[in-house]
Amino acid sequence: MVWFAASFHHRSQWLEVRSFDLPSPPWILAHRGASGEAPENTLESLLLAVEQGADVVELDLWLTRDGQLVAFHDVELRAGLQRKAAVEALSLYRFQRALKKGSGIEAPTLQQILQVLPESQPLNFDIKRRSAEPKAIGDALAAALGTRSQVLLSSFDWPLLAELKVRLPGYPLAPIGDRKPGALLEAAIELKSFSLHCHRKLARRDFLLAAAEASKPPLVYTINRLFLARNVLSRGAAGVFTDYPGRLRRSLEKAAR
Ligand code: G3P
Ligand code: MG
Repeated sequence: MVWFAASFHHRSQWLEVRSFDLPSPPWILAHRGASGEAPENTLESLLLAVEQGADVVELDLWLTRDGQLVAFHDVELRAGLQRKAAVEALSLYRFQRALKKGSGIEAPTLQQILQVLPESQPLNFDIKRRSAEPKAIGDALAAALGTRSQVLLSSFDWPLLAELKVRLPGYPLAPIGDRKPGALLEAAIELKSFSLHCHRKLARRDFLLAAAEASKPPLVYTINRLFLARNVLSRGAAGVFTDYPGRLRRSLEKAAR
């Protein structure tokens, strides 16, 4: 399977162009930043991933009760609270204060992340949702992004992506899935997505080739070991999400020599 350098340019109804330019695949995507070496989804792990030359830096986002997008993975927060609570049910202040108190971790907002990471760095927002209004997520994203390009919006919530396609028409999309590969590929085609993101248990050769043939580069998570990376890339994956972007790239380059 030969992949060419990918480029996405979309001209929206307001003639805004959102580019998403990547070098030639295979791509190394930093999973929650360089999360094997720094606390996941923090400015430290995101900056480390940039420093390590990740092609794309992935991070997870939740919308807080007061409409702020904050980088965090889990549905609920336990640390620093008397009773666990859904991230979406907490205000940004309460969430950040509890997390800091319980674990010492500072969860950055999307605004803070965009201020710190270079505009040229390709980013992938894995947008989490349970109860937040899709419209509110779209509004918060649009406000934070402004005119920013080099951003790929992905989610396990495919209807949310369909809403974001309308609210933020210039941005490339990617459905994420860990089951039902056929439905995942259909969603990618339906959404006219840039790529398709799947758990490694779906990464069988026939599925990866079908995705590639539909021009939906399959990107597989989470792959930390060289032999696994070589395996899925040889089966047709266009890239891998890894907690160790620097180390995995060095190992892949060494193995290719
Ligand atoms: O975006 C790919 C991957 O991060 C999806 O799974 O649970 O690690 O956010 P999760
Ligand atoms: Mg994620």
